[in-house]
Amino acid sequence: EAQALEAAFEARIAAGEFIEAKDWMPEHYRRTLVRQISQHAHSEIVGMLPEGHWISRAPSLKRKAILLAKVQDEGGHGLYLYAAAETLGVSRDELLEALHAGRAKYSSIFNYPTLTWADVGVIGWLVDGAAIMNQVPLCRCSYGPYARAMIRVCKEESFHQRQGFESLLTMMQQGTAAQRAMVQDAVDRWWWPSLMMFGPPDAASTHSAQSMRWGIKRESNDALRQRFVDACVEQARVLGVGLPDPDLRWNEARGAHDFGAIDWDEFWAVVNGHGPCNRERLATRVSAWERGAWVREAALAHERKRAARRAA
Ligand code: 3HC
Repeated sequence: EAQALEAAFEARIAAGEFIEAKDWMPEHYRRTLVRQISQHAHSEIVGMLPEGHWISRAPSLKRKAILLAKVQDEGGHGLYLYAAAETLGVSRDELLEALHAGRAKYSSIFNYPTLTWADVGVIGWLVDGAAIMNQVPLCRCSYGPYARAMIRVCKEESFHQRQGFESLLTMMQQGTAAQRAMVQDAVDRWWWPSLMMFGPPDAASTHSAQSMRWGIKRESNDALRQRFVDACVEQARVLGVGLPDPDLRWNEARGAHDFGAIDWDEFWAVVNGHGPCNRERLATRVSAWERGAWVREAALAHERKRAARRAA
């Protein structure tokens, strides 16, 4: 019986069908999706913090309004993805408890500091640009609720990436020399951590093979990283910024850019909690959770009263 179910499931995956929440699925497939979708949701919520820091410091009302809209979008993406994770039978509270206890991962990139206003533009250009590279294939993920969530998220991510690029173009073309130097400094600091967002090299990836067999991961970590590098080289040229990699050069034979070695020791240190801002990000999340408890209690009390009135 179990083998027949497994075989039918594999056939559906092979046929490119969407698996829905009520469909039979292997427990390992479900657990893999809970892991990835919850980490993705945590990344969106923690991702609000580096930029949120600059909402009250934005240089104009226009930039403040744009940044406010972007950070609100990230919050919405997080809630959307927690809802997708809940379709797999986990509760939002247990996912958040794991995050606040430091037991859940979120994207390494959000553990770096945002030191200047140019960081906000570079995050839009590089971090949201990398997120789009990684999230577009997820629109074809075999798990229906996740794939559908990604379609809306990707539409909003393209606004995030374009506003960042436009902000940098303004600084580079109309800014002072000091502002242009500020942009170059931010690019130098965010370039390598953005490449790390795609995950470890395929040869060191624990989940890629199985996730690709299940149609969860449609493109490998290295393939998406390479596509991102190739896209950024031309964008950097338009911006007039340099990329901090002396080994970056076009390889005609490969039809792609060769680039330098990534510091995987740094990556794993950040993933394992020892990045520049890991403690600060988690403390901020825990404090927000605790300070917001009264809102959740009030909403639940209100709902209990409404339910009692309906029952009366
Ligand atoms: N940060 C933290 N942990 C990472 C990581 C990263 N950048 N890349 C990989 N890892 C972890 C994996 O979670 C896994 O650890 P685990 O077994 O404890 O979960 C381990 O490193 C091995 O990596 P694998 O390649 O085997 O793991 P995956 O198959 O899960 O691939 C991934 C990693 C490509 C990030 C994949 O999980 C994925 O596509 N996730 C969903 C998309 C996502 O999270 N995107 C980035 C954040 S969203 C964002 O940027 C918001 C935007 O609005 C700015």
